[in-house]
This record gives sequence, structure tokens and C-alpha cells, in this order.
Amino acid sequence: MAKTEEFFLSGRGVTKIYGLGNKKTVAVNKVDFDFHKGEIVSIVGESGSGKTTLAKMLLGLHNVTSGEIYYKGELRDIRSQRKKRAYWRGIQAIFQDPFSSFNVFNRIDTLLLDCINMKGEKGLTYEKKCERMTEACSFVNLKFAELTKKYPFELSGGQMQRLMIARIFLLKPQILIADEPTSMIDACSRATILDMLLKLRDEIDMTILFITHDIGLAYYVSDSVYIMEQGAFVEKGTADEVILNPAADYTKRLIHDVPKIYEEWDLSTVK
Ligand SMILES: Nc1ncnc2c1ncn2[C@@H]1O[C@H](COP(=O)(O)OP(=O)(O)OP(=O)(O)O)[C@@H](O)[C@H]1O
Ligand SMILES: [Mg+2]
Repeated sequence: MAKTEEFFLSGRGVTKIYGLGNKKTVAVNKVDFDFHKGEIVSIVGESGSGKTTLAKMLLGLHNVTSGEIYYKGELRDIRSQRKKRAYWRGIQAIFQDPFSSFNVFNRIDTLLLDCINMKGEKGLTYEKKCERMTEACSFVNLKFAELTKKYPFELSGGQMQRLMIARIFLLKPQILIADEPTSMIDACSRATILDMLLKLRDEIDMTILFITHDIGLAYYVSDSVYIMEQGAFVEKGTADEVILNPAADYTKRLIHDVPKIYEEWDLSTVK
């Protein structure tokens, strides 16, 4: 592939096959994609269509069975632990279940301090670090002083989701993969979380890959949309092209299942 600096993360023929013989599952089947800097891309598909598998390959948590992933225009190389760690400074994720994302034996302040250290700011004074953590917590409407001695299991699901975003605020990755980050919370908190992600994108020009089965949500948040069916992309384009003018039957069906798709989300009631 030609060197494409403008694309932050690209894939050609990316495939993941789990298992062998008659236990074989083609979870992701020869997908091509190009994500730009600062773009919000949604990947929409039904349960089992391969969304999380693709996310895990992009994160380097799962090997790619075949195909290539390009990062900043170069073939991605994460074969050594050192290279993998460097890659992870640029790409971070929020997963479906926030409780699986934290080490439950670490206190909240330790979790946040780790982010500051990972960012290469280990040398800051403790006061300065506290300032950073307080700022990150207030970005997501949490009070650092009240959380500092707590453990993750002492928080509610919604607080956990917000804490994950506070981590992202500190880590400032260039790419964020958000895999159904709002699945565990009510509609009101969901709008707040989405709003925070959008604000974060504006603040640090982050590329966000938003993974969801909810095409209405995708329309609300994204610049581009990729529709995934049984491991393959059946349609891609701008959110308006794909959702207001769908070509594939599968996309039409997903839209049909969401009656309120054309309604504007009302965020005015959300603090
Ligand atoms: N570790 C694994 N081993 C074997 N098969 C797997 C594994 N992980 C996922 N699969 C299979 O790969 C396919 C895609 O799964 P994946 O988790 O990527 O779907 P998804 O689109 O994220 O679904 P959901 O919306 O339910 O989260 C499914 O058929 C699933 O059973
Ligand atoms: Mg999934």
C-alpha cells in the first residue's frame, strides 16, 4: 500500500479466524478501512458480527490471522514488548464492561497515578500530580477528593464509566477505541458520556473508534460509519450517506429497528 500519512489507522484484508477445522469461526473477514486523524468512526453491527474482535486486533491484544494494519502510514510493528508499549501510548480503549478494565485491588488514586506515570510524567511533584488527577476527575464530573481512597468496586457503574474517561483524559491517546462504552448505563448518563467523548475529541484531536450495535447512536456521534455483518463491512461512508441513504439491506434493517433515528438527541437537560 502507498504510504498514507493522512490516515492514522488503516487496514487491508484484515482477517481473524478463531479455532481450527470444523470449530473454525471467521470472526473478521478481509476488512479494509482508513481512519483519519480527529475523525469519529462508528462500527455498527449486530451481536457476533466481529466488532470486538476487530477492536482487539487494532489494539494488538489479538493476533491478525491475515492482512495488514498500518499505523501513521507505516506497517504496524508490535512484535516486541517495547514496540507494543510504545504503540499503546498512542492507542487506548474503553470496553463494554468497565469492571473488567481495572485492577480491582488498586485504589482509584493509584489507577490515576499509573496513567500519569505511563504518560512519562513520573517526575512531576505529588502536588502537581494531584492537580492533574483533580482536573481529570472534574472533567467527568467526579470529585477526586471523595474518590481518592476508594477502590473500583466501591463505585457505581456510571461512576466507573466516567473514571475510565478520566483515565483517557490523562493518557491523551491519539486513538481511542470505545467498545459499547455506554451499554451499562441509563440513557441520561449515556448522553453525558458521549458528550464527554466528543469534548475530549475537540480538546485533543483524538481519533475515536466507536463500536456499537445502535445505529441511532452512531448517527448522532460519528463522521464516518462502517456497517459490519458476519465479519465483513457491507457498507461504509459518511454518517449521512450511510444512514440517511443506506444501500445494503442489512443497513436498512438496522435502521428499521431504531424508530427514533432521525430525532435530534436532546442534551440540554444533561449536566
Ligand atoms: N476468543 C474467541 N474464541 C473463539 N471464537 C470467538 C472468540 N471471540 C469471539 N469469537 C467469535 O467470533 C465472532 C465475533 O465475535 P465478537 O465478539 O467480535 O462480536 P461482536 O460484534 O463484538 O458482538 P457483541 O455485539 O455481542 O459484542 C462470534 O461468532 C464469536 O462467537
Ligand atoms: Mg463486542
